Amino acid sequence: MTQSVIPPSPSRADYAAQLEANADETLFERDEPIALFLEWLESARAAEPNDPNAMALATVDADGYPDVRMVLLKDVDARGFTFFSNQESAKGGQLWANPSAALLFHWKSLRRQVRVRGPVEPVSAAEADAYFASRARESRIGAWVSDQSRPLADRATLEARVAEQTARFDGQEVPRPDRWTGWRVKPVQIEFWRDRPFRLHDRLRFDRTTQDQSWSRSRLWP
Ligand SMILES: Cc1cc2nc3c(=O)[nH]c(=O)nc-3n(C[C@H](O)[C@H](O)[C@H](O)COP(=O)(O)O)c2cc1C
Repeated sequence: MTQSVIPPSPSRADYAAQLEANADETLFERDEPIALFLEWLESARAAEPNDPNAMALATVDADGYPDVRMVLLKDVDARGFTFFSNQESAKGGQLWANPSAALLFHWKSLRRQVRVRGPVEPVSAAEADAYFASRARESRIGAWVSDQSRPLADRATLEARVAEQTARFDGQEVPRPDRWTGWRVKPVQIEFWRDRPFRLHDRLRFDRTTQDQSWSRSRLWP
């Protein structure tokens, strides 16, 4: 049964048709991982059908049990990688218990992935306010509506809550709920991976022990 839905291993002809862009050896001379990440994200923007900024966010709960889900990258700079969510969600509780995370970007059309690991800290209230204010009004109302990650009886309950919160903010700005905020993953490890023929892939990893150190660079066996 699974034989019909799981694609077969690529043939030599499949590999021959692969992207030349993944063969440039100057990758291994790079020493600035954030600048390199921005270039790869720019290429993903041009190639991916949607959400090139989508990333898997892995967290660990108070019992040491891992969890993972997709979120959207909303900012990146020398300080780290920022996303937004509900503090009272499952991920919010996990980040409270264990403020560290891993991120994974996988750009299928480029055949590339980037992995990030590091401690996590909440963004400032001013930063959360600024991003919240940039969102569509309905999305801002949605942040008031959703008890994210808690049980919901049915769609009608959700729609009733939308109507209630829409009426509540009628004619006014929709402020940021206290429970809605952002987090920044402060990277201590960033790995760039790109597909090469016959699974002989390229891997370039940057490491540092703390944020104020400079990066060390290693090439890894695939
Ligand atoms: C492409 C994609 C992007 C998403 N972006 C976000 C996001 O930025 N913030 C968020 O709270 N949930 C986002 N979600 C929903 C989460 O994956 C998840 O369902 C939700 O945050 C609850 O996760 P939790 O119960 O682990 O806290 C996204 C889902 C997908 C598929």
